[in-house]
Amino acid sequence: MTTKLFRGARIYTPVMGNSTCARAGAEQGKIAFYQDGAILAENGRIKSVGSYEDVSKNLNAASIDMEIDLGGAAVVPGFVDPHTHACFAALREGEFSMRLAGKPYLEILKAGGGILSSVRKVRTAAEDELYAFSKNVLSPTLYYGTTTIEIKSGYGLDTETEMKMLRVIARLSRETHQSVVPTFMGAHAVPEEYKSKPDDYVALLCEECLPAVAGQGAAKFCDIFCEDGVFDVKQSRKILLRAKELGFRLKIHADEVNDLGGAALAGELGATSAEHLLAASDAGIDDMAASGVVANLLPATAYSLKKPFARARKMIERGVPVALATDLNPGSCFCQSMPFVISLAIMGMNLTFEEALTGATLNAAWSIGMEKDVGSLESGKLADFVALDGETPAVLAYASGARPIRSVWKRGERVA
Ligand code: NIG
Ligand code: FE
Repeated sequence: MTTKLFRGARIYTPVMGNSTCARAGAEQGKIAFYQDGAILAENGRIKSVGSYEDVSKNLNAASIDMEIDLGGAAVVPGFVDPHTHACFAALREGEFSMRLAGKPYLEILKAGGGILSSVRKVRTAAEDELYAFSKNVLSPTLYYGTTTIEIKSGYGLDTETEMKMLRVIARLSRETHQSVVPTFMGAHAVPEEYKSKPDDYVALLCEECLPAVAGQGAAKFCDIFCEDGVFDVKQSRKILLRAKELGFRLKIHADEVNDLGGAALAGELGATSAEHLLAASDAGIDDMAASGVVANLLPATAYSLKKPFARARKMIERGVPVALATDLNPGSCFCQSMPFVISLAIMGMNLTFEEALTGATLNAAWSIGMEKDVGSLESGKLADFVALDGETPAVLAYASGARPIRSVWKRGERVA
């Protein structure tokens, strides 16, 4: 057993306690603060946390293997990035230039590019190649403080390639320092070979892909792109109901570009989270609040698509718990930095730094079913934390475009 005592920490953390759901409304902005804080970790898990005085009270000095002074840094839980497509085999920088020149994202997809161009690359990549490329994409995220990350499949769009992606995601989980949560997203686009018969692809997902993924226990969540020209609400409902029947928890890319009623569908089906929501209606927001659906907001995607940000303040006012994510993918948003996302949330969506911190940690953990292990600094959870180069978490927005991070710790070990 290894016991470590971290001291000299100005600790800022949301508190989960015995609560049974993500932090909504005014609760989202409540953060515990210990000015002269300490964390006692045993074998990578937090044994106690609080003021140095309380944590060290009944401690026997001989039982401490290592004492680490964090030098008065603001310390926050390791960031939880609950929405990424970080498993792919090539970048799409050329397509970004097309978007800068005015071609809309969905037009590029309609013309066989976008997600479909990533699908061609992932289908032909050897499994080791896909792993090596994805590992390189992932590694800066740890440097930027992400200690837990969700990764979706969805660039295979056939059973064999989707399974290949999920094996790569499982290997990333085993062979990197981050906790990785896999999501099946076979309904990311209609593959080229089904272009004229999309309902046949919906049937393939329901009858072959989803049962295969469930049979191997390869993903905990099922996600879908509910959007004009991709999957409509009827098709989305069909796929998600089948997924629910097979034991998946649900996520929906909802109202990212157009308001199709995806937010309302998330409420209707009791999804764990709805993603993007740039165009979500008031009624959709209320449906989410009524069902406790977490809004996974991706402000770096709005930035990259040059769209207005999601209405985060409205969501918090109406009682929807808000989480923040990068959406890291080769197309709509190639962002590896949670500090960048947090600063956009504060400066562009008008969240307070406390609300943004809860969004990037505890609420994000709830949205991927990881709340028992990560998302706050509380006894029993993993000793995952980030020591910031500043006195408060506001430094994440104050130090614009920088990396105000001194060190990143996973299970009590320094990893960046
Ligand atoms: O969340 N909208 C669908 N999926 C991703 C983009 C994936 C891609 O462009 O490769 C998103 O924006
Ligand atoms: Fe996405």
